[in-house]
Amino acid sequence: MELSDLAPPGTVLIPILDRGQSVALHPLEAELVARAGDKRRRDFALGRACARAALAALEFPEAPIGRAESGMPLWPQGVVGSITHTSGLAAALVGRGSEFRALGIDAERSEAMDETLAPRLFVPSELALLSALDAPRRREMATLLFSAKEAYYKLFHPLTGRRLDFRRLEIVPGASGFTARQPQEPDGWAEPIAGRFAVMDGLVVTVIGLSVS
Ligand SMILES: CC(C)(COP(=O)(O)OP(=O)(O)OC[C@H]1O[C@@H](n2cnc3c(N)ncnc32)[C@H](O)[C@@H]1OP(=O)(O)O)[C@@H](O)C(=O)NCCC(=O)NCCS
Repeated sequence: MELSDLAPPGTVLIPILDRGQSVALHPLEAELVARAGDKRRRDFALGRACARAALAALEFPEAPIGRAESGMPLWPQGVVGSITHTSGLAAALVGRGSEFRALGIDAERSEAMDETLAPRLFVPSELALLSALDAPRRREMATLLFSAKEAYYKLFHPLTGRRLDFRRLEIVPGASGFTARQPQEPDGWAEPIAGRFAVMDGLVVTVIGLSVS
């Protein structure tokens, strides 16, 4: 399976493997990381390169992608999208605002997952799921649940401007997809949002999209 196959229909997902290739930044984007260290500048540039390639694939004109104070990318008019980077890989998921309210993508390496954080990240149903697995499967599942929450946050924040307590978000994984749902005050649950994932050699990638209804 190719990572680009995870893209919801109508969106474009572009991954780039970091092979030390040169990557150009728009001057307005370069300003955003002018004082950052080398690794941060490299990650930022690779993510922006993925985003630019995705915009071109959707036939949007070339434009710089800014950054809000919260860190979320500022897309050109009519575009929604999301960016991720992890060691050796960056990816962007981009769609049309006429078709999607928001998109989220996240990539995590399972070797980097700190399982001691589980009680601060996961709801009881997720903790129960993890406790039934042997150690290697548990690490992979914890990475998947965490990545799905990060992807959801990247969709949720641009829509609401809010932060999110991950213990107020339940991920229910299936064979190649998951649903994400939040409790709705005063009781009950908001409509679940469906996502997809891929796991390959310790790399977990999750994507989620909310269509314009
Ligand atoms: C912002 C966050 C989602 C980034 O995820 P990450 O796995 O650390 O890093 P990734 O490389 O996958 O993603 C980084 C990209 O996310 C995007 N991003 C950053 N802040 C964002 C936000 N508020 N909304 C949407 N996207 C955001 C940016 O595009 C960024 O890349 P860029 O700076 O090069 O443009 C994460 O650091 C975070 O804050 N998560 C929510 C934490 C939280 O509320 N936790 C509660 C635990 S109880």
